[in-house]
Amino acid sequence: MNPLKLHVVCVPLPAQGHINPMLKLAKLLHQSGFYITFVHTKFNFDRLMKSNGPNSLKGLPDFRFETISDGLPPENQRGIMDLPDLCITMPIDGLISFRGLIAKLVSSENVPPVSCIVSDGVMNFTYKVAEEFNIPEFKLFTPSGCGMLGYLNFDELQKRGYFPLKDEKNISDGYLETEVDWIPSMSGIRLKDFPTFFRTTNSSNTMFNYNRDSVNNAMKAKGIILNTFQELESEVLDAIKIKYPNLYPIGPLPLLYKNISSNSNNHLESIDFSLWKEDVNCMKWLDKKDKGSVVYVNFGSLVIMNTKQLREFAWGLANTKYFFLWVIRPNLVECGDEVLSNDEFVKEIENRGLILEWAPQEKVLGHSSIGGFLTHCGWNSMLESICEGVPMVCWPFFAEQQTNCFYACSKWGVGIEIESDVSREQVEGLVKELMGGVKGKEMKKRGVDWKHKAKAATTIGGSSYDNYNSLVLQLKILSG
Ligand code: UDX
Repeated sequence: MNPLKLHVVCVPLPAQGHINPMLKLAKLLHQSGFYITFVHTKFNFDRLMKSNGPNSLKGLPDFRFETISDGLPPENQRGIMDLPDLCITMPIDGLISFRGLIAKLVSSENVPPVSCIVSDGVMNFTYKVAEEFNIPEFKLFTPSGCGMLGYLNFDELQKRGYFPLKDEKNISDGYLETEVDWIPSMSGIRLKDFPTFFRTTNSSNTMFNYNRDSVNNAMKAKGIILNTFQELESEVLDAIKIKYPNLYPIGPLPLLYKNISSNSNNHLESIDFSLWKEDVNCMKWLDKKDKGSVVYVNFGSLVIMNTKQLREFAWGLANTKYFFLWVIRPNLVECGDEVLSNDEFVKEIENRGLILEWAPQEKVLGHSSIGGFLTHCGWNSMLESICEGVPMVCWPFFAEQQTNCFYACSKWGVGIEIESDVSREQVEGLVKELMGGVKGKEMKKRGVDWKHKAKAATTIGGSSYDNYNSLVLQLKILSG
């Protein structure tokens, strides 16, 4: 341990879509000479031990792990339905536990003095500890810029009477199609494209209040880091900068990491926090397929679908006659997944469909055989797809995925949307369009343009590359 190194404590929200970008940032900062303490919840740490083995959590002499409590009982599975509970327990139990951790670190002689905290935008209690110990804090918001701007408008949605909804029926009666014309940097956006947490008649809804408070509390941070790039979201980022001048868009993090860490250390490379065990055999299966011939289907880490939706996706995909690689997480389907073992379906997809529980997604999207991606529009998935120039069929589920979908389809030209009440005919039609239609070809072309722009942004002289260097400089100045 080098006591002169500046020490950054990284605190992700304990969910896969938040851990992955925080880990990329932590690895980058380590490459830039910082000592890293990466904070997991005790629950996730134990889970990673089980799924990835103790080696994955050994770390390095200057890249260590610590744990805090999230306040939920160990038997709770921390699925999507538990998010509101987590938003209640973390600011209480998580805060106490985090305070204890920082007290331990600042008094320890075995680690360098803590110079800075980088915590997830929605870990909205860590600033209290940062203030108590007089440590500068930066926030990493893991959603898109457009998603963040959506959250920044939650106050306005409330002021203008859109939140809470007058009637639950508003969710299905066409009301959400209402165009919002008071945000110049989000032209064309409709109510239905906003992060979903305002869709409630309950004015004290936990998720609405938690997310609104998170963006408002971020004002206290020394800087806001975003996993996006200026060229992709220029209007939106300029609007966010008015509120938070110290904004650092440094994405796509997977590309920035790849570009900065070309001579990297193998031990660092091997640190991976997949909460499910990756099935790497699918890469061999992809190797045998022609260029652009496979549809990749993955709904991320939190989506839950019902039996009917699963059946419609399954038969829709089967009916396209394309090859497909489909990730079905063990907790993806709410009730029964009988369709997957139905003889007729199994026969229909024989030698054509590969179904697995968790994939090495970045590698899959980078494989030349992938022609399109059917996605839930989680920001990491979408950005990983943009990095590889892969066009998308979008089935947004919740949170800012609806906003991501709107931008992908209406502004960036890389997506087409499937209705939430999905039918097999629609899946078949849109996937065929994606893989071989005129619109699909246009989307592919736009996708390749964005891929080049993303690459340029993350290489020397690019916007994200420069923003990252400014961030490092700022971290050093504030820590010094
Ligand atoms: C959640 C929200 O749903 C999303 O809207 C928000 O932007 C971030 O938090 P999640 O459902 O986990 O995200 O989706 P996503 O953001 O796409 O993150 C999933 C991550 O897991 C990606 O980095 C993806 O590469 C990885 N993954 C997913 C795998 O490595 N393998 C898989 O099989 C599935």
